[in-house]
Amino acid sequence: MPCPHLPEGFDATDPDLLQSRVPLPEFARLRRTAPVWWCPQPRGITGFDDEGYWAVTRHADVKYVSTHPELYSSSENTAVIRFNEHISRDQIEAQRLIMLNMDPPEHTRVRQIVQRGFTPRAVRGLESALRDRARRIVEEAREAAGGSADGGFDFVTRIAVELPLQAIAELIGIPQEDRARIFDWSNKMVAYDDPEYAITEEIGAEAAMELIGYSMNLAAARKECPAEDIVTQLVAAEGEGNLSSDEFGFFVLLLAVAGNETTRNAISHGMHAFLTHPEQWELYKRERPATAAEEIVRWATPVVSFQRTATQDTELGGQKISKGDRVGLFYSSANNDPEVFEDPGTFDITRDPNPHLGFGGGGPHFCLGKSLAVQEIELIFNAVADVLPDLRLAGDPRRLRAAWLNGIKELRVGVGG
Ligand code: HEM
Repeated sequence: MPCPHLPEGFDATDPDLLQSRVPLPEFARLRRTAPVWWCPQPRGITGFDDEGYWAVTRHADVKYVSTHPELYSSSENTAVIRFNEHISRDQIEAQRLIMLNMDPPEHTRVRQIVQRGFTPRAVRGLESALRDRARRIVEEAREAAGGSADGGFDFVTRIAVELPLQAIAELIGIPQEDRARIFDWSNKMVAYDDPEYAITEEIGAEAAMELIGYSMNLAAARKECPAEDIVTQLVAAEGEGNLSSDEFGFFVLLLAVAGNETTRNAISHGMHAFLTHPEQWELYKRERPATAAEEIVRWATPVVSFQRTATQDTELGGQKISKGDRVGLFYSSANNDPEVFEDPGTFDITRDPNPHLGFGGGGPHFCLGKSLAVQEIELIFNAVADVLPDLRLAGDPRRLRAAWLNGIKELRVGVGG
């Protein structure tokens, strides 16, 4: 295997590394010299523990693996599932109910059912409520800035956090009075990799179980007494395939993780990118190009990597892959591949075409919530451009400690001069 001249012990899933930066220079070296590279000493906490994994860094190879589920399975060791001594057999079995961890044909069945909730019509139907919500969030942030000593606020907690959770709650039809509890559980689940949040794995797992329990009860209630909402469509539709109450519980769990922290970080990174590229912010405020949201997702790539497991001996990028090997798909690297993107290091909100892999490599697991995420990003930046056009950076972002997420936990901003 060619030596890629990486720093001693390099591991692109190392949460300590990802706490300070995404390893873009190392990815560039790997793409050039060893695009499918065996990392022997993983420290990441995504299930790669101890065993080593293939780092797949080129755009074409990430796409290939994503679109060949018969060769690269999702049913073991994706980012969500974690096989180690801390996890019981029951928990492993339970995680198989999450669609992200399924292979066809089981995945196909579940995906066909849940897709009913994500049609363009369903997403458009949320637009007006989410537009009002986005506007209110930004107006409240402006008021908070007015009342604070330094005239500033934390963009992440004041603005980026709120809309993704509201969007999921709106979509599923979670009653208003239950939303605070749902938000609390969701936040506990996503933050526990970072010691600063003082949330342990146990608290994260407990929150997940409570959220699943709540969702299963909601499903059971709708089966008993159908309503005009998506829960009813997914669990109680007549004559078509339905989700069981268990499957629905795990689906809500997946949404709370997959649709929450991802969109929040796209929004936070997007604001940081705008404030460090003022000409792009001026352009956005003037023209609101429809291409902006996709470039924000490419630039941010909130999901750094997901995993697959080889189902048979095969070959990728000239490397022999053995049955059972773990394979890490590095979306952050693919999204900066100069074979596909001109000047990938340039933040250009008019980039078109923009075949980034931030929402996945186009296979059966391609992000179910993409249209919703794009809509949320547009709505929030339109609201910021209208209400807080003169926002400025008031400090370096503080990054999240996580193994697969490119996260910002604090972004201080100021208003005006
Ligand atoms: C899957 C990224 C927002 C729901 C995925 C995948 C990625 C991703 C990389 C895996 C694709 C694969 O394995 O091929 C993102 C990013 C988002 C975002 C970057 C925001 C900028 C959302 C939202 C929702 C959502 C808003 C729903 C409310 C899902 C679901 C899956 C998924 C359910 C699993 C699909 C399956 O297994 O078939 N997303 N996502 N995502 N995403 Fe998103």
